[in-house]
Amino acid sequence: MVLASGGGSNLAALLAAHDDPSYGARVVGVVSDKPGAGALELARQAGVPSVVVAPGDFEDRAAWNLGLTDAVAVFQPAYVVLAGFMRLLAPTFLEQFPGRVVNTHPALLPSFPGAHGVRDALAYGVKVTGCTVHVVDDGVDTGPIIAQAAVPVLDGDDEASLHERIKVAERSLLVETVGRVAREGLLVEGRQAVIGA
Ligand code: GAR
Repeated sequence: MVLASGGGSNLAALLAAHDDPSYGARVVGVVSDKPGAGALELARQAGVPSVVVAPGDFEDRAAWNLGLTDAVAVFQPAYVVLAGFMRLLAPTFLEQFPGRVVNTHPALLPSFPGAHGVRDALAYGVKVTGCTVHVVDDGVDTGPIIAQAAVPVLDGDDEASLHERIKVAERSLLVETVGRVAREGLLVEGRQAVIGA
C-alpha cells in the first residue's frame, strides 16, 4: 500500500504498473495525511480504497501515529511504500511493519536527507544528484538503501526543473524496485538491503 502527501505522480506510476498481473504487486490502499492530496483523487480514479489520517483530527502526534498505524494495518499490506509522504513515522508505526516500510527520496542518500533534498543538492552545487529507494528506519532518510539512480544537474536548473527531471528517474526506479521486492522478497541485514537474497 502507498502513503502519500502530494500530487501523487509516483503513486500514479505504481497504479499504472499494478494492473499487469505479472508485475507481482498491487496497491491495496492509499493513505494520506492531507485531505486535498492529489494522490487521493488518483486512488479514487483507480478504484483503490483511500483514507485520510490528518494530524489536525488528533489530540497530539502520538495519537495521530496510532491512528495512522491502525489505518494502515487494516489493509494488511505486505509492504508500505512512502511515495512523497512528508511526515516522520513513529517507531511504534515501524515496529508493526518491520523491514517492510520503503521510502523514495529525491537525492542520492546519504547526501541531502530531509524535506528539501532537491533544493539542498542544488544549493550545494553538486553536478550529479538523483533518487534513492530505501528501507525506513527511525532516522530521517537513514535506512538501508535498496536502489538508486543518478540524475545530472544542468546549468540553469532551478529546484522545479531539477525535481521534474529527478521525478522521471524516480518513477521508473520506484516501479521497478517495488515490483522486484514484491516478486523476489527483500532481505535486510544491518545496512545491507538485498532483493531476492
Ligand atoms: C517525490 O520526489 C519524493 O521523492 C519526494 O516528494 C515527491 C513526491 O512527488 N519525497 C520527499 O521529498 C520525502 N522527503 P509525487 O507526489 O508526485 O509522487
